[in-house]
Formats: sequence, C-alpha cells, structure tokens
Amino acid sequence: MPGTVVVGTQWGDEGKGKIVDFCAQDADVVVRFNGGSNAGHTVVTGAEVFRFHLIPSGILRPETLNLVGNGVVVDPEVLLAEIEELKERGHPVDNLRVSERAHVVMPYHRTLDGLEEELKGGLKAGTTLRGIGPTFEDKAARIGVRVGDLLDEEALRERLATLVPMKERMIEAYGGQAGLSKEALFETGRDWGDRLQAYVADTSLLLDHALKQGREVLFEAAQGTHLDIDHGIYPFGTSSNAVVGSASVGSGVGVRHLNQVIGVAKAFTSRVGTGPFPSELAGEEASYLRDKSLGEYGTTTGRPRRIGWLDLVMVRFAARVNSLDYLAVTKLDVLGGLDPLRICVAYEHDGETLREFPASMRVFGACRPVYEELAGWEDISEDSWVGAVKRGYDELPGEMRAYLDLLSHETGVPVGLVSVGPAREATLELRGT
Ligand code: IMP
Repeated sequence: MPGTVVVGTQWGDEGKGKIVDFCAQDADVVVRFNGGSNAGHTVVTGAEVFRFHLIPSGILRPETLNLVGNGVVVDPEVLLAEIEELKERGHPVDNLRVSERAHVVMPYHRTLDGLEEELKGGLKAGTTLRGIGPTFEDKAARIGVRVGDLLDEEALRERLATLVPMKERMIEAYGGQAGLSKEALFETGRDWGDRLQAYVADTSLLLDHALKQGREVLFEAAQGTHLDIDHGIYPFGTSSNAVVGSASVGSGVGVRHLNQVIGVAKAFTSRVGTGPFPSELAGEEASYLRDKSLGEYGTTTGRPRRIGWLDLVMVRFAARVNSLDYLAVTKLDVLGGLDPLRICVAYEHDGETLREFPASMRVFGACRPVYEELAGWEDISEDSWVGAVKRGYDELPGEMRAYLDLLSHETGVPVGLVSVGPAREATLELRGT
C-alpha cells in the first residue's frame, strides 16, 4: 500500500506517535499534515523516550524521509529546539524537510491565543496556548507569514510592515499590551530563516517523486477526529482538520494516494481541555489509569488528562468520517487490574438511545453513557506482555480478546494492530492475517 494514513479516533493522545513509529519501519516517507506544536507525540526506542511536537514520528529511522507538510503551522522556536535536541542525543536530522507553504506561528499569535481564551468565557476551549488558533485565523484571512517568507527578506519586511500595526491594534483591543517592534520581528524571522534554510523544500514535490517511484508513504495526523474543526466538538476542539481528507490537502497530494486508513483508538478515553465528556471517570479508577499510563499528562501542557471509559459512539463516528480500514488499539495493558471494565456503546438522551454522535454541544452535554460491562484482565509486566504478543493473538487473555471483539463489532472495523506497552516490541500486527 503506497499511501497509509494514521488518524486519531478520539480527542488526540491516542498513542499515534507509537503507531506511526511502528508503521514507519515499512515506510520510505512520513509526512505530518495538520496541527502544530499543540500536538505531542511520544516515541519510545529502547531506553530512550522522545516527545515530538512538530517533527514527524518517523525521524528516528534515518533511512526514512520526514516531511512537515503545508497543512502544519510551524513554530520555528519549537522546531529548532527539537532539531537541536535530536542532534545532541546523537540522531541526525538530515532526513527532515519542511514545507515552504506551511504557516509560521509568530510571537503575536501566542499572545493573541491567551487573550482570546480569557475573553471567550463559556466558549473557552482550554487551548494549549501555543498560538494555534490565531495562526490558522491569519491563514484563512490571508494575513499569515509562511515558512518561505522567512527565506525572502524583502517579502518578510513587506509583510511585517502591514501586519504588525494590525496585530498591535488587535492586541490592544483585546486588552493586551502590544509593544511589537517590526524590526525585532524581522530580525527574529530572518534568523529563523537562516537556521531552517537547509530543511525548507517543496514537500508536495518530494512526495510526488516518492509516490511515482512506488515508495511507501505514511501520513501522520496530529490531534484526533473529535478535535477536528469540522467534525469535532466545536467550539472545544482545535483549529485544523484532523480527519483523513486533510492528509491530501495538508501534504499536497491527491486523494487516490491515500490507500489505507488506520484509526488509532486508545483502550480508554482521555481529554485535555474543556467540554462535555459523558464517559468521564472520577476518583480512584481515573487516578489508577492516569498514573499507570505513561503520559496521561498532556505532552504539550503537562496538564493531567481527564480520563474515562472507552466511548465507542466516538470511535464509530471516526470510523465513518475517516473510512477506516483498521483500528490500532493502544494502551490495553493500562486497563489490566481493573474489573469490571465498561465500554460506552450508545448515549441516552431525553429518554432516547443515540448511537450516532450529536453535532450539538447542548445535546452532547446532556448525554448519559449506555455501558456494556466486561470482565477485566490481569495486570502483568511489560516483559510479560511482550512475551504474550510474540506468541500471537490467541495468547492474549480471553477477556482482552472479548474487549477487542466488542470494539470491532460496534464500529464495524477490524482490529489491525494491538499495543500493550510503549515499546515497539509490545505491538501485535493482525493486518493481513
Ligand atoms: P489548541 O489546538 O491549542 O487551540 O487547543 C484546542 C483544544 O484542543 C484544547 O482543548 C486542547 O487541549 C486540545 N488539543 C490540541 N491539540 C491536542 C493534542 O495533540 N492532543 C490532545 N488535545 C489537544
């Protein structure tokens, strides 16, 4: 399959970084196509743990070309820090390229993110404060700065001459203190351009060449379907598209190259930020899952994630809008030791049973979960899980297989990958078996 897309089926943080890194063993190219440094993808190799916000999760495989596509908004400070960290830890980044068409998160975007959140009252999304919304606002308003502008002094100076007074007026109108300097922003932009120059390219063209040569391309989504600007929990989601269609727009290749779609579903649900969450857990069960699981604290913000039972109304919706071929189910090991387990298969709203995800946040906020109860499995060590997956699917606990069967039955999508630990070896591939 030359083009495989990996998307999140929930609210982000499904474990996509690990799945992309795993699938990247067969890929020649990995391309990120949406979001920005609001994302946090964790990749574990041996004893090393990496947390990427912008760099694609295939970067640790030196023979794989890693692209940051035009659909990503790039904060150069974050990108340059990630490049430096990788180099310092002995991982060259010669295999990285960044689209000249990607939009740049400018310092004033971060300022505006904070000011907007303060003014939004009940519409507050609890953003990562990384300037994501304001950068996408400027992109749509056609007043953004693109990565290519950082390499063109004249274009950069001209853009800033127009934009800086506009941004000053906006910041002041929102109650902030502007004090922006055109010259300082120009120098910052030029410095970013100098340091990024070696990586900037027409990434759509690179992809086109790769696809024409029959190379395997992995399209890596950030965030999840339910944070998508069109299909997510508006207005509590993010400002870019996170569903499969955006892989084409955000990387600059046609849809016929998107041959296979893998939806990553964590075995339970989590959420950073505000908004309704019908299967949310409080108390001991939530703390048990949060503390046991590597990273149930926002990778980007460090906030504790809100935790809940697996919600299959959400995953069923994601299966539809992404035309999923397979599910990759992650963090099943984390549920070990909890008994019984619950899975939300529908919502109860106003005396009716809803099986489809509602558009209205007022309706969603009043939904009660309808659960199926299942027996749990034992809590065992990561080494034992690695041993179990090596022996094959039938060696997984029967209760876990029943859990996966219900997931697959309720969503109509086969389970193609099972992950029972952060390590690459703790992964069982069922695709094509
Ligand atoms: P923003 O993307 O920073 O504007 O944040 C909007 C909402 O999306 C907030 O609720 C964030 O917590 C959430 N969000 C954005 N990116 C991610 C992610 O990668 N994982 C989980 N939540 C995210």
